[in-house]
Amino acid sequence: MTYSVAQLLTQDIPLQPIEIKGWVRTFRANRFIALNDGSTINNIQCVVDFENTDEALLKRITTGAALHIKGDLVESQGKGQTVEIQVNSIDILGDSDPEEYPIQPKKHTFEFLRENAHLRTRTNTFSAVMRLRSTLSFAIHKYFNENGFYYMHTPIITGSDAEGAGEIFKVTALDGKNPPLTDEGTIDYKQDFFGKETNLTVSGQLEAETYAMSLGKVYTFGPTFRAENSNTSRHLAEFWMIEPEVAFMDLDGNMDLAEDFMKSVLGYVLEHNREDLEFLDKRLQDEEKKLPQAQRSEMNLIEKIKFVVDNNFKRVSYTEAIDILRNCKPNKKKKFKYLIEEWGADLQSEHERFLVEKHFKCPVILFDYPANIKAFYMRLNEDGKTVRAMDILFPGIGEMVGGSQREERLEVLKEKMKALDIPEEELWWYLDLRKYGTAVHSGFGLGFERLVMFATGMGNIRDVIPYPRTPQNAEF
Ligand code: 4AD
Ligand code: MG
Repeated sequence: MTYSVAQLLTQDIPLQPIEIKGWVRTFRANRFIALNDGSTINNIQCVVDFENTDEALLKRITTGAALHIKGDLVESQGKGQTVEIQVNSIDILGDSDPEEYPIQPKKHTFEFLRENAHLRTRTNTFSAVMRLRSTLSFAIHKYFNENGFYYMHTPIITGSDAEGAGEIFKVTALDGKNPPLTDEGTIDYKQDFFGKETNLTVSGQLEAETYAMSLGKVYTFGPTFRAENSNTSRHLAEFWMIEPEVAFMDLDGNMDLAEDFMKSVLGYVLEHNREDLEFLDKRLQDEEKKLPQAQRSEMNLIEKIKFVVDNNFKRVSYTEAIDILRNCKPNKKKKFKYLIEEWGADLQSEHERFLVEKHFKCPVILFDYPANIKAFYMRLNEDGKTVRAMDILFPGIGEMVGGSQREERLEVLKEKMKALDIPEEELWWYLDLRKYGTAVHSGFGLGFERLVMFATGMGNIRDVIPYPRTPQNAEF
């Protein structure tokens, strides 16, 4: 029988002759192979009878080599594992030259591993992160499926810029050297593939709204692109976003949904990826031991996740937040890079982090932002100056979610678009939703990689997506 390492270590397989395939993590004392096949963070120990094994074969058992082992599953003689394999035969499926193989059994820096991203999931840290990423995405689909949502695929190539921030990647089939020009001398996109200007999507929201207004509850979960030239540890040019959109739901319902959803998916990984989390938890604690006491976290990784699952998020209006920020120590002592002076200021990540990490010490939902710092589609409040927006801020991450109740009143929406120079012709279909059976509706977008960062404790967003796309970097 062929089993996975996870099955052998956790499923009480009867002691019997078995076969296994995997990659060598370490080979110790010419005798003990630690074999891993990706099914778990743990290795199965395979014990070689080296006295009766060909010398040349033993030499080929090197870190990274792929093996097919036949042997007997036995109770382990040593400690650290319950079962091990007494090897009868080894077939080397693929050699790995120890002089050249980059992933040696020692500590590598994350920078080095990013340059070797095609091999980095052969380390404990990255295999744990990517297993968690997989579990989280499953938990997301499971949550929506169990709560009556339809999964909707929104287009990746689109003509709209939902967020209006202009940080778009153009999509064109025109010849860059010799594009057709209009009479005015600008590029004539009428002659381009789609007969109009197109870009990679920055959000599936507008299209998701059309489906919410017929199917009721929908969500998207797909790749999203932003040409933000920000080289931070929290921005990618290509990331994955989860966007639920629900008819007849107002902003309070939106906050309830976001909170319940995040607690549910984080609870799911606590239950299903315990060993990976314990490994990452220990890794973080070891890292933090190098820091002075004052800079260490109050909670370890698993405690942080549990805290989020078990406690209510704090709901605070933008206006209340500004009051807190205006009067806080770092503002008064001019420690912020951007000082908060008056109502209407956009919040920078230093302010968001102060609110969640120092002031409230828990996830915070900020709502009712000034209209002029938020997107055109958000519903205007009766005060005429704030909109029904919400951002969810997380300790260590900052903004995790951005969402809102949508402007469902045709005239108000048209006025807003006019003020922002958004042509009605471009969004005629979006306006149609407000003409035919309009209703209150809301939704939000959650940056998947930021959620993975929180769940794994990884500090750089480049380390939670297989092949990160960032300014000046699209290797692999
Ligand atoms: O706040 P954002 O821009 O909101 C929207 O796009 C709305 N259309 C969502 C909606 O209401 N349906 O983006 C949503 C989230 C952010 O809170 C952040 O977590 C993530 O997407 N995000 C990024 N993640 C990684 N890299 C980037 N460059 C990101 N930009 C946004
Ligand atoms: Mg946002």
